[in-house]
Amino acid sequence: MTAVWEVDPDNPDPAIIARAADLLRAGKLVAMPTETVYGLAANALDEDAVRSIFTAKGRPSTNPLIVHIEDKADVKRVASEFPDKAQRLADAFWPGPLSIVLPKHPSVPDIVTAGGPTVAVRCPADNVARALIQAAGVPLAAPSANRSNELSPTKAEHVLKSLNGRIDAILDAGQCPVGIESTVLDMTGSVPRILRPGTITKTMIENVIGVVVKGAEEGVAKSPGQMEQHYCPKTRLRAIDEIEFFGEMSRATKAGLRVGTIGWQDWEDYEYRLYDTLHRLDDEGYDLLLAALPPDTPEWAGVRDRLLRASNSV
Ligand code: TXA
Ligand code: MG
Repeated sequence: MTAVWEVDPDNPDPAIIARAADLLRAGKLVAMPTETVYGLAANALDEDAVRSIFTAKGRPSTNPLIVHIEDKADVKRVASEFPDKAQRLADAFWPGPLSIVLPKHPSVPDIVTAGGPTVAVRCPADNVARALIQAAGVPLAAPSANRSNELSPTKAEHVLKSLNGRIDAILDAGQCPVGIESTVLDMTGSVPRILRPGTITKTMIENVIGVVVKGAEEGVAKSPGQMEQHYCPKTRLRAIDEIEFFGEMSRATKAGLRVGTIGWQDWEDYEYRLYDTLHRLDDEGYDLLLAALPPDTPEWAGVRDRLLRASNSV
């Protein structure tokens, strides 16, 4: 059984945080809220604990994990270098939804980084996550708290739907305020690369460190988060250009399909609601979900990326 402990998102009860931290120090798994999505946390320095994250999620061992720290000063515990540009980004955006890929410190077990020489580091803004990392006293490895290839969770009930009985506890602090996963930025190459777009946009990053590029380097194995089908609902989903939306909608309904639709107005609200909407529509038994693709601008990059990956039309 998985214990669910409700906590106040702003002032989590220290007694509950201490109980969760005890579990983590004992090598157990705790789902924690972050400002982006719920993460499935384990002590990043405990190889066996990290292995149980992979088992609980059914995650391929080739997909590396993000390591969460409570304070920028702790980067040196997990990364062997913290170049000037990366420090400037940390000053600008931490605590917050930006994961920075850096050269790995030898103290981080290879399983965390899928055997690779780099580690993704993030300092979350969420009060509960920060309190938990501090109480545990160790950096926490935490992928999104869902079974591999399923939708990311933005509410404790989403975590429970996917991982009940497979993890030890969930800290329930309600809906995550951002709603999509952090921007992943690789700072280990000759030019910084956005491996996963998010709410910290390319423009925001470029305003701090100058030019960055989108996507992994050609010819280099992609990080699994870059694989096309990912973050999938069970129901077939098609993300299509707005201009085709109503035509598709009427074709599908004429063909007798029950169609669920996803629209958009402003990008922050869309990010906030995206996964919860997909979870809900997925539970309602539609034959097809149709999403109108928002414009190809930096603000919308995160939502477009998640919709296109969830979409069976790409
Ligand atoms: O917002 C988030 O980032 C959430 C919360 C819980 O912090 N975490 C999250 O983790 O989304 P996950 O495991 O679902 O996604 C991590 C992504 C994957 O696409 C993984 O391939 C990539 O980050 N990643 C992790 N370490 C990496 C590394 N060393 N180099 C390149 N990509 C890496
Ligand atoms: Mg994930």
